[in-house]
Amino acid sequence: MQTKILMVCLGNICRSPIAEGILFSKLPKDKFLVASAGTGNWHVGQQPDLRSIAVSKKHGINIENQKCQQFKTSDFDTFDYIYVMDSSNYNDVIKLAQNENQKKKVVLILNELHPEENRNVPDPYFGLDNGFELVFKMLDETCEIIAQQLIKNHSKISI
Ligand code: 4NP
Repeated sequence: MQTKILMVCLGNICRSPIAEGILFSKLPKDKFLVASAGTGNWHVGQQPDLRSIAVSKKHGINIENQKCQQFKTSDFDTFDYIYVMDSSNYNDVIKLAQNENQKKKVVLILNELHPEENRNVPDPYFGLDNGFELVFKMLDETCEIIAQQLIKNHSKISI
C-alpha cells in the first residue's frame, strides 16, 4: 500500500510545490505518493512560480509539471500526512477537519526539524529572490528527517 503525503501552503505556487518536489526526490517512488495544495484558489491550474521552478532546478529537482490545486476536505481521507508551511495554513486546514483523527494528520512542517517550536516557512512570494533559496534549504533539511521517518514507518507496516 502507498503512503500518501500532502504539502500545503497558501497559494500552492511557491512553498508547497518545492516541498513536494524535495520530499518526492528522497523517497522510493513505488511506496510513496507526494502531492501539494493551497488553501487559496487564485492560482488553480497554474504551474509553480518561476522562481520556485528555478531554485528547485538549481538543486536537481524538476517541479515544472506540477499543477496548482486547492486543498479540499476529502484530502483528509486521501492523505496519511498533511504538512503545512505556516501557522496560518495550519489554522485554515484545521478549520476544515471534521474529527480528531483528521486534525492529527496536520503538522507544521518545520516542527519535524525544530520540535515544538512552531516555526513558519516564510512566504517568499512578495520578497526577494534569495527568499526562495532560504525556503529551499529549510525544506530540504526538514524533508530529510521526514523521509527517514516515513521510510522507517513504512518498513514496519510492510513486515
Ligand atoms: P505560497 O505563496 O503560499 O508559498 O504559494 C503565495 C503565492 C501566491 C499568493 C500568496 C502566497 N497570492 O496571494 O497570490
